[in-house]
Amino acid sequence: MLLEGKKALITGARKGIGRGIAVRFAQEGADVGIADIVDDAETQKTVDLIRAEGRSGELFVADVSTTSGIGSLYERHLEKFGRIDILVNNAIMPDQSAGFIDMTEAYWDRMIDLTLKGYFFMAQRAAQEMVKQGSGGRILSLSSVHGYRAWPNDTAYGICKAGLRRMVQSMSADLAGHGITSNCIAPGYIDNKIPEGDSLESPPMTMEQMPRLVAYVGSHRGGVPSDIAKMAVVLCSELGDYVNGETVLVDGGMIGAGTPEAIRSVTD
Ligand SMILES: NC(=O)c1ccc[n+]([C@@H]2O[C@H](COP(=O)([O-])OP(=O)(O)OC[C@H]3O[C@@H](n4cnc5c(N)ncnc54)[C@H](O)[C@@H]3O)[C@@H](O)[C@H]2O)c1
Repeated sequence: MLLEGKKALITGARKGIGRGIAVRFAQEGADVGIADIVDDAETQKTVDLIRAEGRSGELFVADVSTTSGIGSLYERHLEKFGRIDILVNNAIMPDQSAGFIDMTEAYWDRMIDLTLKGYFFMAQRAAQEMVKQGSGGRILSLSSVHGYRAWPNDTAYGICKAGLRRMVQSMSADLAGHGITSNCIAPGYIDNKIPEGDSLESPPMTMEQMPRLVAYVGSHRGGVPSDIAKMAVVLCSELGDYVNGETVLVDGGMIGAGTPEAIRSVTD
């Protein structure tokens, strides 16, 4: 197991990519705290899935877009687990799309508060704890293909996701010598629906189901949370020891192979 005995904290893990990473980390031997603003049966299910792997799992209801929410989250995580070895910044608000012309100050503030400010202060506090602990650590943030290229109505979201790519570069410089790595994963299209029944995730979307989108994805299928979770294990384990300040695209080839014209055509 690659994460035996590690204590991880993952934000926005009620469902989707966060849940996928939480369960995979548990399978690799980590105890996992999950933080989400929503507390319902699905959030509890993520905790149950962690515990079903024989690891300790705990839900901390938290708003990670405010420094007070972040402070209280760390208090509870550290009280329960005693330390933090891995942070995964993953939370995102449901409305990721807003046009440039009509965007309100309230929308701009909400996006920046969660996806830049929140990710920064979550990472800063994790780094402070890791430096105190003296045994290194891993800080992973979820960027996006929107951090590489523009789609219509993605100004605020895209700016945040591009900013995270730059943030981890500065973190790798400022945290030099502490054994802490800071990286991003930039997913492509990943199905984040809550699957039916007991399965962890829905099967990947096929060419037949979404021909316009996956036609230009080299892998010819949509992504699923476990695609991202596998890379998260690499970057948060000894396998990723020498990867630092990097953003890894896990997009089935979308950015590499999709021409701007092809990508724009699916949004028209
Ligand atoms: N799904 C995709 O196709 C895709 C593509 C590129 C990047 N990403 C990135 O991956 C990450 C996960 O995406 P997803 O689609 O799995 O998300 P999701 O919508 O399935 O889950 C996001 C979770 O964050 C929680 N959340 C929202 N605001 C919060 C707050 N203020 N405090 C705490 N929790 C909060 C939500 O309740 C939700 O459970 C995000 O950062 C997203 O930008 C996703």
